[in-house]
Amino acid sequence: MGWIGEVPLFVTTNKDRPEGCKIAVIPEHKKAKAHRGGADTRRSAELGGSKNLRNFWPTAIFQVYNTPVRILMWTNRRYREFPNCTGGKMSITSFNGGQRDSARPNSVLPGSSQQKITTTTIQEKKLRHEPITCLTAYDYATARLVDQAGIDMILVGDSLAQVVLGYDNTLPVTMDEMLHHTRAVRRAVRSAMVIADMPFGAYHEDEKEGVHNALRFVKESGAEAVKLEGGAQRVSLVKRVLDAEVPVMGHIGLTPQSLHKMGGYKVQGKDFSGIERLVKDAVALDKAGVFSIVLEGVPREVAAMITREVSAPTIGIGAGPDCDGQVLVFHDLVNLTFHEPAKFVRRYGDAAALFTNAVQQFKADVESGGYPSDAESYHLPKDTKAELEAILRRKEMKAYSR
Ligand code: KIV
Repeated sequence: MGWIGEVPLFVTTNKDRPEGCKIAVIPEHKKAKAHRGGADTRRSAELGGSKNLRNFWPTAIFQVYNTPVRILMWTNRRYREFPNCTGGKMSITSFNGGQRDSARPNSVLPGSSQQKITTTTIQEKKLRHEPITCLTAYDYATARLVDQAGIDMILVGDSLAQVVLGYDNTLPVTMDEMLHHTRAVRRAVRSAMVIADMPFGAYHEDEKEGVHNALRFVKESGAEAVKLEGGAQRVSLVKRVLDAEVPVMGHIGLTPQSLHKMGGYKVQGKDFSGIERLVKDAVALDKAGVFSIVLEGVPREVAAMITREVSAPTIGIGAGPDCDGQVLVFHDLVNLTFHEPAKFVRRYGDAAALFTNAVQQFKADVESGGYPSDAESYHLPKDTKAELEAILRRKEMKAYSR
């Protein structure tokens, strides 16, 4: 244990870790490399209150401790095919000529240079200071694109409620809806880690139900981890879900499922008591064994401090650039949300404009007779066509002669 003034500090120890986790101890000479900026060791501050925190704050952030660093290592469909009119086979939705394309998560991906991302990969990225990428996806097509672009983690977020299902907030989305969309994503993804978001009500009433629902995501939809919102109050649940062999991603700060309790979508951790709560929540989740923690709507300075404080990689959304990784909602990224974006959103594309333009052109072409063209039509085989024409001619002549 180290001390700064009146404030006790403790270093996270093996006994704080959940059983079964591999702990790697970084030798002294490698410490500088293994840590952001090479300066700090992982430590957790036991904060006595806002007064203590104020004393502790400036020193704690920059202090270097000569203590061992412990780092947590964690560990048919058959495309719709139909014979076309000339007798061949044609796939209408296939990306690969109608062959079954296995989306099973294997650590070695046959025929691909892409690596299968696991909780271990994510933990190792933090150690190597390699930024971690995460995007949401809710359906086969977008999940496929996100995966092929090499994004590390795909979150089937409960933001599904808003961006896909059109609700005002995330609260109404159900387990069945989340499972349905997670299955679609699972079928598309080969490399990225697929994380399912536990919806509001799926773990709030009792822990047994929470574990049951986490297991459903793995068993019924192929998710590789679940995310749940909340800090210290979820520690017991997190441990039980981990005991059931399901990795957990934490989520603290602006937690949209707490909308009514928070009194709106507000940046969290702006005053000392808020900062203290966030740090305690992050440390509690880290000790419980989450493989990563989403920090949403948190001041940059606080996110940076938490990122240094915990072993678990932090994944920021509206939490500044100092997190170990970043996550955005896919629909925000491509302008498909129909409202002004939040401050932290960067739009990398304008799918709304692209889609609108395509739809308007289709409408105009159909209305003008420009679509479909002859080249976009199927044709009879030559012999059948000639026979049909002969039959039609005979019919016509018969009708004439009556
Ligand atoms: O539901 C969601 O999309 C999320 C991310 C914003 C982290 O929770």
